[in-house]
Amino acid sequence: MNVKRIRTDRQIQACFPVIRQLRPHLIETEFVMRVRRQEEAGFRLVAVFAGRKPCAVAGYRIAECLSRGRNLYVDDLVTDEKYRSQGLGKVLLDWLIREARGHKCEQLALDSGVQRFAAHRFYLRHGMNITAHHFALDLQRRSRNGKPGNSG
Ligand SMILES: CC(C)(COP(=O)(O)OP(=O)(O)OC[C@H]1O[C@@H](n2cnc3c(N)ncnc32)[C@H](O)[C@@H]1OP(=O)(O)O)[C@@H](O)C(=O)NCCC(=O)NCCS
Repeated sequence: MNVKRIRTDRQIQACFPVIRQLRPHLIETEFVMRVRRQEEAGFRLVAVFAGRKPCAVAGYRIAECLSRGRNLYVDDLVTDEKYRSQGLGKVLLDWLIREARGHKCEQLALDSGVQRFAAHRFYLRHGMNITAHHFALDLQRRSRNGKPGNSG
């Protein structure tokens, strides 16, 4: 299984049905524009394909900060539900680790929603440690409406 970089608008759009399974709040017609905007800040999409269709997708960027040094930050990692538990998540994670090493990163890091217990098992099984609590303040909501946020 090869991991390919997603470059064209058509390839980005083809990732949407998979990404939507992780980020259900995204709007299909805005997806390409949002990815292109994030790319200007270093964001990259990669995917594993089944024929011409992406079946597992990762979004990441190379970042640097005082706490972690140079790191590869994984924004999104999702396998199409039809293809889960077939090793595609591991293929993507291994590719991301190689990419991080290639960029001389000291760390690969990500946030994962507290409710994603199965994903946590996946990360722990692959040698990752839980190293932080993530805090967020929603600046768009004027009053609390009880809806959970969508990060991680
Ligand atoms: C986490 C995820 C990317 C793993 O991808 P994958 O292609 O299933 O990964 P692999 O086949 O290499 O490993 C499978 C393991 O991942 C874990 N896993 C996590 N969520 C799972 C799910 N919904 N279905 C199946 N396995 C899942 C299990 O430990 C599983 O091991 P098992 O098959 O022995 O039960 C994928 O399950 C997924 O997209 N989950 C929903 C989105 C998500 O939570 N992404 C992480 C955001 S931080």
